[in-house]
Amino acid sequence: MAQPTTNSNNLDIGFSETAKHEGTTDRPMEFELLGLRWDLLPDVFAPFHSPSTEAYSRWLPYPEGSSLLEMGCGAGVTAVFGALNGCRHVTALDISPAAVENARHNAARHGVVDRVRAMESDMFSALSPADRFDVIFWNSNAVEAPEDFAYTRDIEWSILDRGYVSHRTYFREGPQHLAEGGRLFLGFNSRGNRTLIERFAKEEGLRIKEINSASRVFEDRTVEFRLLELIKADSANTVSTA
Ligand SMILES: C[S@@+](CC[C@H](N)C(=O)[O-])C[C@H]1O[C@@H](n2cnc3c(N)ncnc32)[C@H](O)[C@@H]1O
Repeated sequence: MAQPTTNSNNLDIGFSETAKHEGTTDRPMEFELLGLRWDLLPDVFAPFHSPSTEAYSRWLPYPEGSSLLEMGCGAGVTAVFGALNGCRHVTALDISPAAVENARHNAARHGVVDRVRAMESDMFSALSPADRFDVIFWNSNAVEAPEDFAYTRDIEWSILDRGYVSHRTYFREGPQHLAEGGRLFLGFNSRGNRTLIERFAKEEGLRIKEINSASRVFEDRTVEFRLLELIKADSANTVSTA
């Protein structure tokens, strides 16, 4: 019977998820999602192993003419999908050089290189403090790894966040890069440490609102994939996604 995941001791699951996304030598170099074909480079998060990329890409708002920042873009599916569906300026960031390259491939494949810039960045570090976006989104590496965890392969960044440092940074710096009226989203699954992100939200004066969710059974566990909006606690923002 399927059991819900807990936030404790998910590290083993993190390692098996990493192995799954790393794949074998016969891992496909292309895949279909959202009715489109996409390139997939080695060492990049494989969106066909999880419902997250497709679900979040469908649920996010892409206001006409807006600017979108996709943090941790992986193959660049959400970034390119946003550019094809209304966003005028898209920035795709990832700590993994292979992911940045992959996002560039997919922007070229879908004819949106004029609207999508992809850059290597540890969270917001490659941006200027003045860079502002209407929509900021991250499908995060929700599994908490210990503070002394040593990354040995870039693909590990797709699943594991050492000491939850990247999540902490997202909550602290994300709001600073919002344009007036901009919206900050986090795609967060139930393998993650919800208690910690609730604490980060409180520390930054944010409240967490659930926008949409989906569940998928993996072997003996049910995983929830939730699109969360991080809203300034004193804001009256009640706008719903289209
Ligand atoms: C769950 S994967 C999502 C990939 C892609 N957005 C998708 O939905 O298919 C998380 C992504 O975040 C990236 N990432 C993790 N930590 C990061 C950091 N500190 N700075 C930038 N990107 C990071 C990973 O390399 C990975 O590509």
